[in-house]
Amino acid sequence: MPASEISHLLQGSWGYNNAPHNDWIGLMLARDEQPSAHVTPAPMTSKLPRVGTTVFSVMSALALETGAVNLGQGFPDFDCDPRLVHAVSEAMRQGFNQYPPMSGALPLRQAIVDKIRSLYGHAYDVNDEITVTAGATQAILTAILCSVHAGDEVIVIEPAYDSYLPAIQLAGGKPVLVSMRRGPDGFSVPWDAVAAAVTPRTRMIIINSPHNPTGSVLTADDLAQLADIVRDTSILLLSDEVYEHMVYDDVPHESVCRHPELVARAFVISSFGKTYHVTGWKVGYAAAPAMLSAEFRRVHQFNVFTVNAPMQHGLAAYMLDPAPYLDVAPFYAHKRDLFRAGLEGTRFRLLPVRGTYFQCVDYSAISSQPEAEFCRWLASEIGVAAIPLSAFYDQPRESGIIRFCFAKKDQTLKAALDRLARL
Ligand SMILES: Cc1ncc(COP(=O)(O)O)c(C=O)c1O
Repeated sequence: MPASEISHLLQGSWGYNNAPHNDWIGLMLARDEQPSAHVTPAPMTSKLPRVGTTVFSVMSALALETGAVNLGQGFPDFDCDPRLVHAVSEAMRQGFNQYPPMSGALPLRQAIVDKIRSLYGHAYDVNDEITVTAGATQAILTAILCSVHAGDEVIVIEPAYDSYLPAIQLAGGKPVLVSMRRGPDGFSVPWDAVAAAVTPRTRMIIINSPHNPTGSVLTADDLAQLADIVRDTSILLLSDEVYEHMVYDDVPHESVCRHPELVARAFVISSFGKTYHVTGWKVGYAAAPAMLSAEFRRVHQFNVFTVNAPMQHGLAAYMLDPAPYLDVAPFYAHKRDLFRAGLEGTRFRLLPVRGTYFQCVDYSAISSQPEAEFCRWLASEIGVAAIPLSAFYDQPRESGIIRFCFAKKDQTLKAALDRLARL
């Protein structure tokens, strides 16, 4: 990506909210791909005219260009457990190379059922209630497409992961945005505002815990308040729990699966990419009551139909041992503590990290620049890439907060801390 383009994008034209409104795909062709003078590009009205290059790609490109340590995009810079790679190669050698069942390979669905039952006490049916997906992103899109009809409202709590709003738009739904509140103890969900946002058209509420980007987690009390809101309604829940195994300080993850009233109306979504440090494999799942799963599968079977077989069988074999997913929390707690200790001597104000592998910091004691400008300065002058919190809002807003990802080798974190020590 050329420097001029990075600079243009950093001035605010990225993501769902700020991209140029291209109504003609011809306008989107790169210069050297322009058709010859005689050929008129076919007209194409965009279904997602507000979607452009994401800030994550922009910051990664800037990190590459400037040689900055990339704590922007949320993925590990270390490899997964070699036993997992071995299990997948073994599955290929054993001949698991053809289409698995549409809902997912049975041993993997069984492993998911067993894990959820042992951790959260809810017993899903292995045949009717678990669907393996191409990452959590596909599960989110599928859950929204199968349940949201034109004109339905979906409550989204901001800041939010960037796939929710385009998915709602593709379904013809209307996002209804509720902002998290920032208190002395970090970000939390204002349930009174969520309750006030409910209308007869509300079809779904999306929750995400542990939460990207704020690192906050929902408590049992949060889930009780949510239950009060949806009781006696037909509102569905999408519970994005991709960071379920990254909850710290001996606090249990409050999965919706622990809450019988909520689980009965929920798509619970998780991602092996996050849990096992294999974000590039794109395997996840959606767990939902049979009626919801049946609708989910109607969309899923004509979207991807199924997910690659050797990964599924490899993951199933690896999951027989719960230790790797149980070890994720202490593994990342060490990195969180290392990173936070290193930042203590700087003028960044650290927000709490109760879950995920993201550390948000308030930089208002260092600079009054807008978040995107500050991130650009941080990458090019200090040599560390981060993500502005504003990227997680529909209408960018300035909170003076940026997000670092600490899913990195200790030596990467130390290299970043050496540079950040100047602040
Ligand atoms: C909150 C949240 N949900 C979903 C996803 C997507 O997960 P996957 O890579 O499995 O599609 C991510 C990835 O960053 C995320 O942060």
